[in-house]
Amino acid sequence: MIPKETIDLIFESSKIEEVIADYLPDLKKKGTNYWACCPFHNEKTPSFSVSPSKGIYKCFGCGKGGNVVNFIMDHEGLSYPESLKELAKKYNIEIEDVKLSPEQIAISNKKESVYLISKYANNFFQNQLWETNEGKLIGLSYLRNRKFSENIIKQFELGYSPEIKNALIKQATKDSYEKDFLIESGLAIINKNSEVDRFNNRIIFPIHNSSGKIIGFGGRSIKNNNRAKYLNSPENPIYQKSKVLYGLYFSKNEINKKNNCYIVEGYTDVISMHENGIKNVVSVSGTALSSDQINLIRRFTNNITLLFDGDEAGLKASFKNIDLILKEGMNVNIVMFPASEDPDSYSKKLTNEEYLSFLNENSKDFIKFKSELLKKNYHNDPVKKVESISDIARSIAMIPNRLLRHEYCKVSSSLLSIAEEDLIFEMSKFLESPKKIKSKDDIVLNKNQKIKTTLIEECEKEILRLLFNYGDKILEFEENRIKVCEYILHELEKDSITFSNTSYLFIWEKYFEIYKIDNTHNINYFLKNTEDEVQQIVISLLSKKHEISNKWEEIHNIYIKDESQNLEKSVEKSILNLKQAFIKKEIYNLNEIIKSEKNDSTEILFKVNKLNKALVIINKILGRNFN
Ligand code: CTP
Ligand code: MN
Repeated sequence: MIPKETIDLIFESSKIEEVIADYLPDLKKKGTNYWACCPFHNEKTPSFSVSPSKGIYKCFGCGKGGNVVNFIMDHEGLSYPESLKELAKKYNIEIEDVKLSPEQIAISNKKESVYLISKYANNFFQNQLWETNEGKLIGLSYLRNRKFSENIIKQFELGYSPEIKNALIKQATKDSYEKDFLIESGLAIINKNSEVDRFNNRIIFPIHNSSGKIIGFGGRSIKNNNRAKYLNSPENPIYQKSKVLYGLYFSKNEINKKNNCYIVEGYTDVISMHENGIKNVVSVSGTALSSDQINLIRRFTNNITLLFDGDEAGLKASFKNIDLILKEGMNVNIVMFPASEDPDSYSKKLTNEEYLSFLNENSKDFIKFKSELLKKNYHNDPVKKVESISDIARSIAMIPNRLLRHEYCKVSSSLLSIAEEDLIFEMSKFLESPKKIKSKDDIVLNKNQKIKTTLIEECEKEILRLLFNYGDKILEFEENRIKVCEYILHELEKDSITFSNTSYLFIWEKYFEIYKIDNTHNINYFLKNTEDEVQQIVISLLSKKHEISNKWEEIHNIYIKDESQNLEKSVEKSILNLKQAFIKKEIYNLNEIIKSEKNDSTEILFKVNKLNKALVIINKILGRNFN
C-alpha cells in the first residue's frame, strides 16, 4: 500500500507530456497541447491529444482518456500501484514498501489480492516441481521427455500441481491467505461439500501479462486419460482471456527487434520455439484472436505471421484471423505446416537455421495464401470460382488504406487470372460506408455503449463544462464581480433547478461539496479519486470541442472565438438554456398529471400558467441577446 501523501506527491511531480513522450516518441507540440497517433487504436493522422495544463490525455478517435497514471495502466497493462511506482521511479520519489500482514492482505483491494495469490501459487507450483519427490518424478520427467531444458522450464516458470486434490488450499491457508482470494482467482473451487484445487496432477503454465505479472494459469494433464488435456484459469478481475497473449512478456523485445510477431496456437509451441532460438512468438491459447490482442502486438510491430497446422479447423480460424488483422491495419503473412507437424514438433526436428529458412521460404502474403488455396478449391467450377473471388474481395475490403487495397486488387487479379476492374468492383461492394463522424457523446461513456442524451442533459453537461473549465475565473458584470462557479450555483439555486442525469448530479454536488470546504476549484479530485465513469465524463468536459479540429480551422480559415474572452455571455446563455429546458420538462410533466387526473387540478393549471410566462421571458432574452 502506497501512503496517500506519496500518491499526491507522485501526481504533483509527474508531467504528463514528459511521461507520455517516453512511450510515444512522435508526440509533438501544437498550440497548447501535444498530439500523436493514438497507441490504443489504429490511425494514420494524430487524434491523440495531451493537455499539460489539465494533466490529461484524450483520443478523439477511440475515446480513450485519463490522467498520467491511467495512461501507464492502459499502455503497459500495469495495475494502479504498479503504475504509481513507475512514475515514482522516473521522478526519484521514494516509496516505502510496506510488507503485507494477513490483516492488510484482507483489506487490500480485490485485484491486488488476486495478483498476490497468483504470485503465491506460482511459487508454490514451481516449488512442487523442483523440490518434491512427486514433482521431480512425475512433473520434471514429463517435461524432460518433451525435451524442455531446465533453463527454459525455469524461464517460463513452469510448475507442477500434485495429485492430492487440495494441496494448494492447504498450504495457502497455512500461510494465512484468505480462501476468498483462492476462490476469486479461480485457483480453488470451494462449496458446502468440498474444497478442491482447480489444478491437480498437471503441468502448470503460468500466464504473465506484458509486464511480467502472473495473471492466470494453464494446466496440462499428464496422463492421457479422458480428462480435458488443458484446463485454464477462469476469467477473474485480473485475467481476461481476450486481452492476453501467452509469451508476450518473454517475446516483446525480440518482436520489436525482428519487427515481426509469430502467432501460434499453444503454450508448448511458444516455449519450444524459444528453446529453438526463435523468440518473437506469442500464442492465443485456445481462443479466437481479438482486436485487443492485436493492439498489444501493435506496440512492438505492425507485422504478424500466423503459424498453423493445416487442418480444416485451423484453416477456417486462420481466415477469420487474417480478416481481423487486416481490419486493424496490420500486415499479415501465413505459414502452413505440413500435416501432423506443428511449431512445437518442428522446433525439435530442425536446427535454428533450418527452422528460420523454413519459415522464410513458406511465409506467404495473405493474398497469395488465400488465392492459391481458393484456386485449388474451385478448379473449373465457375460458381465456386465466383464465391472464392468474392471471399478474397471481402478480405481486401478490410484494409483501411485505399492505396493498399488497390495494390492488392492488382496482385490478386493476376494470381486469379481475372480482370482487375472486376475485382475492384467486387471489393467495393464490401467497403463499409464511410463512418459517420462521432459526436463527443458517442465517444465518451463506457466503451461501445452509446448514451442517448436528452436536451436537458445536454444543457446540464454544458453547465458542467463551463464549471470545470472556468469555475475559478472571475465574471465581470456591470454591477458586480463574481466567480463563475458561485454565479452558476446562485442562479440554479435561485430557481430550485436540480440535475436530472444522475452522474451529472453527482459531479455537480461533489464539486460544490469540495468547493465549500475551502473555496478551491479542485478538478484533480475527479481525475484521481472517482470511479471510471465519472472520470471519463470529467475528461470529456475538459476536452474542448474546438481542440479537436485545429487542422480544420487552419484549412477553412475559420476563426473560432475563444469563449473565455466573453465568458459572461457564454455562462449566461448556458444557464438560460438549462432553465428553458428545465421549465419545458416541468410543463410537460404537469400536463401529464392533468391528463391522468380527472379531479380538480386548478392548482396545477396555475403552476403551468406561471411556468409558461417564465418560458416566454427566457425565450425573449435568449432571442434578443444571444442569437
Ligand atoms: N487448449 C485449451 N483447452 C484444451 C485444448 C487446448 O485451452 N482442451 C489450448 C491450449 O492453450 C493449447 C492450445 O489450445 O496450448 C492448442 O491446443 P493443442 O494443439 O491441442 O495443444 P498443444 O499446445 O499442442 O499441447 P501439447 O503439445 O501439450 O499437446
Ligand atoms: Mn502440441
